[in-house]
Amino acid sequence: MIRKIELTNFRNHEFISLDFDNRKSYIYGNNGVGKTAILEAIYFASTTKSMRTSNEKDLIKKDENFAKIKIIFENNKRNEVIISKTGKRLSANGVEKRRISDYIGSFNVVMFTSEDILLIKGTPMDKRNFIDLEWMLLDKEYLSLLNKYRKILKQRNALLKNIKIGDDYTFLNILGKQLLEVGTKIIEKRTEVIELLNEELKKLPNKFDIGEIEIVYKPDQTVKGLKNWFETKQDRDIIYESTNAGPHKDDFIINIGGKDSKIYASQGEQRLIVIAVKIALLQLITKVSKQKPILLLDDILSELDERNQKLFLNNLPKDNQIIMTSVKEIKSNDKIQTIKIEGEMQLG
Ligand SMILES: Nc1ncnc2c1ncn2[C@@H]1O[C@H](COP(=O)(O)OP(=O)(O)OP(=O)(O)O)[C@@H](O)[C@H]1O
Ligand SMILES: [Mg+2]
Repeated sequence: MIRKIELTNFRNHEFISLDFDNRKSYIYGNNGVGKTAILEAIYFASTTKSMRTSNEKDLIKKDENFAKIKIIFENNKRNEVIISKTGKRLSANGVEKRRISDYIGSFNVVMFTSEDILLIKGTPMDKRNFIDLEWMLLDKEYLSLLNKYRKILKQRNALLKNIKIGDDYTFLNILGKQLLEVGTKIIEKRTEVIELLNEELKKLPNKFDIGEIEIVYKPDQTVKGLKNWFETKQDRDIIYESTNAGPHKDDFIINIGGKDSKIYASQGEQRLIVIAVKIALLQLITKVSKQKPILLLDDILSELDERNQKLFLNNLPKDNQIIMTSVKEIKSNDKIQTIKIEGEMQLG
């Protein structure tokens, strides 16, 4: 459980320190006071990624040189992240971790945000990012496969810009073979993760009465197709000067009662579907990591009607730490701690 968080120059916060003394915390305040930023900082300290931006510099307070996130856990363990214009420094318990793979995994989070709707409405890249990010945190072999794939792909694409049809394809074929080897493992892993998520989805005690939810993997190529591509379709890649097939183009859709939820489900149903998928992910992370992830709920309840708010809360596990945000004030009680964030909205 996180006991304390301190942010310095993170987004709009020059300095803010929050103490969590209950497993359930409710952060409230007006629009723009920096509630999402607080959850973003916790998410970043866990995953080394932001759910809002791929440009880390966005996290540094305007006109400052660095941002700092410090998290102290119940057992006094500490994580610290410093983001500067040249990169980030990660440390755990005072020891700097130079490799991301050595840093991640010390605590897990699952974030629920309105952006999750991208799991249905987003581009294939949005969706791949979801699977990739969540799974690489649990499976370092997957992280290393993704890195390897990216590297070889970059090499192959560079070569494709410098080669003409009819040239000697020896080196191109070597890179194709390597991509096939790593790509095959990525396809297998993705198949497995999606299967595991589907198993968890089936087990959800309450599916918000919207029917059977199923994630359907749409790999760009089967392993056989990919092999064929790299062995016989080099010319096509040479014309386009880039690799046009492979796991870097994979997609998935989420079906509801056998129909594509993107086309079929209502706005509200789509929200419930992605919440269900996130809860399934949460169960899976709990199982695989044997830890209880911290749940970050960014203004989620306000999007649901009263009945679904109850269903959602009843579907959440009981003993995980939950930190939620809202613009609405509620009264503190012994079950939930409330924290008010003050400040001016800082547009412009
Ligand atoms: N790098 C930055 N430097 C300074 N301010 C920033 C930076 N990035 C974002 N902001 C500002 O920080 C503020 C906090 O944004 P945040 O999304 O955390 O607010 P919020 O409390 O979640 O609001 P809402 O209730 O509308 O969701 C916004 O006013 C935004 O313009
Ligand atoms: Mg917000």
